[in-house]
Amino acid sequence: MDHLDLPPLSGAAGTVRLPGSKSISNRVLLLAALAEGVTEIHDLLASDDVDRMLDALDALGVRWESLDEAGRFRVHGAGGALPVKHGDLFLGNAGTAFRPLTAALALSGGHYRLSGVARMHERPIGDLVDGLRQLGANIGYQGVEGYPPLVIEPAEIRPGGVVRVRGEVSSQFLTALLMAMPLTGVETRIEVVGELISKPYVAITLALMARFGVVVAREGWQAFVVPAGARYRSPGDIHVEGDASSASYFLAAGAVGGGPVRVEGVGRDSIQGDVRFADALASIGAQIEIGDNWIECRAPEAGGLRAFDLDLNHIPDAAMTLAVVALFTDGACRLRNIASWRVKETDRIAAMAAELRKLGAQVDEGDDQLVVVPPPAIRHAAIDTYDDHRMAMCFSLATLAGTAVRINDPKCVNKTFPDYFATFASVGRSVPVIAIDGPSASGKGTVAARVAERLGYHHLDSGALYRLVALAATRAGLALDDEPAVAALARALPARFEGGRVLLDGDDVGDAIRAEACSVGASQVAALPAVREALVLRQRAYRQAPGLVAEGRDMASTIFPDAGVKIYLTASAEIRAERRYKQLLEKGMAANMPGLIQDMRDRDARDAARSVAPLRQQDDALLLDTSAMDIDQAVDFVLDAAGAAP
Ligand code: DC
Repeated sequence: MDHLDLPPLSGAAGTVRLPGSKSISNRVLLLAALAEGVTEIHDLLASDDVDRMLDALDALGVRWESLDEAGRFRVHGAGGALPVKHGDLFLGNAGTAFRPLTAALALSGGHYRLSGVARMHERPIGDLVDGLRQLGANIGYQGVEGYPPLVIEPAEIRPGGVVRVRGEVSSQFLTALLMAMPLTGVETRIEVVGELISKPYVAITLALMARFGVVVAREGWQAFVVPAGARYRSPGDIHVEGDASSASYFLAAGAVGGGPVRVEGVGRDSIQGDVRFADALASIGAQIEIGDNWIECRAPEAGGLRAFDLDLNHIPDAAMTLAVVALFTDGACRLRNIASWRVKETDRIAAMAAELRKLGAQVDEGDDQLVVVPPPAIRHAAIDTYDDHRMAMCFSLATLAGTAVRINDPKCVNKTFPDYFATFASVGRSVPVIAIDGPSASGKGTVAARVAERLGYHHLDSGALYRLVALAATRAGLALDDEPAVAALARALPARFEGGRVLLDGDDVGDAIRAEACSVGASQVAALPAVREALVLRQRAYRQAPGLVAEGRDMASTIFPDAGVKIYLTASAEIRAERRYKQLLEKGMAANMPGLIQDMRDRDARDAARSVAPLRQQDDALLLDTSAMDIDQAVDFVLDAAGAAP
């Protein structure tokens, strides 16, 4: 699947059980592997990054078993250094596996190679290697100096003393050193050079090391002492908290989409810094409630979300969610102190700026900050995700503006949250669609327009689009069976609907597209697959709050397969020809009945026989035969099906 079209949403509410935290899952796996004894892990995250760590442990001789589908694992600890002394490990784009394994293996006395995907080889690791070399580790760069892939060879480790590590690029270097240090057996002092970023992630490391029996003394965030004789011991059972970064999308959905949205799996006592995202939402007006193991968010009681200017260094991952929330505030928003975004799964500052602009936002990109000015209205866009799970997840929130959004390469969410889109859909309230399909002149146009008016919904006359394509193609001198040329024209069709008028290149063509010649042309171009494809997104863009009545041939089957109400509206060919005859006479156009009946039958046959989106009643559509009905009766039928009072 190369893209996913997310429908526009009119709100969000519900409860979500979060998947396990990636940061905790991969730390716990490594600690359990290095510990004495057997550890039973509950709620381990099922995702690509965790699979990379599990594969690596396998290759390094650590025995583990998956006990059930719910994320229960048993790890047989090696009680010190990793047992297998030769290994070529592929770690994908999993920073939480790559960095800590580098440190643990550098002190394990073996021959190893560590590599990843191309992007992993662009993510710096020099600060960690420099730290490990101070202990005597033998680590070489196979490609570019300072970046993976790495080659590790056995070395004389000189344990103890002071190790200095830079803290400004990634806190994972410090995390990796801290976790590996008990392998040396002697007291080691680690000093951070420069400002330590993302401190809450180091707090997760320290909390988990303590669960495995190693208590690190800390002097502020500048120095850490791992005591002599420190050894990891299994705590027996350990539960992985829900992922607080993943929680951010759902909490934001509650803030933007009304709510309440509740996430279960993190709460007041969480060891994850990203729970502070809830404070950021509260500071811009959202209503937050926190329990022991849940957090709930709803929209501000009055007014909307307020523009913000926030230092987000402590929640770099969840901060991405705020960049999209910015679209829903009342002014320019500044996200400060986020330089670490540049060395994550992608250059997230550049990626975020480029994609927010596609939605219409005005974005200023700084070295370590982003300023986002929300657009008056969010535009439909196809969002590129840069192999970055968080880009994909963040941008799903844009659908809460009532606009459809296309997510390219959606499977990148497998890195941390394989079920993300289904879970997101479970709290989203989609903008309702009433799909009315049926043959020409069945009366569906009039019925659809009346229903739309009664409900205050938007109205899409998709037949008019095909008619416009036929007219524009004829005017441009194209042969109507020249598929690539007609499709190109359809993609850029300069047509607008304004009030009751239909404009093509500024000309009012309301009457021209109703002429019989144009009907015939429309049916021809509508049979071309590339033309239909070219009009798909344009049609879906009509789905906007509070709702849409869409009429055509393939509304229920192709354009809005998730429409809540589907009607197949028809009438006998004779009745339809008679209706068209009257219409034409009213407009002062020439018409003859036998010809019209024949045309009607020919067109029905062509629309039903074509290979793409043939005209037929869907299994889940209600049949409405208007042969013996007047318009009011037909309108009442549709309103009744939509659950509205006729
Ligand atoms: O509904 P109408 O008569 O205005 O449609 C004009 C032509 O366009 C008709 O031949 C069928 C085709 N059409 C289509 O193929 N798919 C749609 N969704 C709407 C119309």
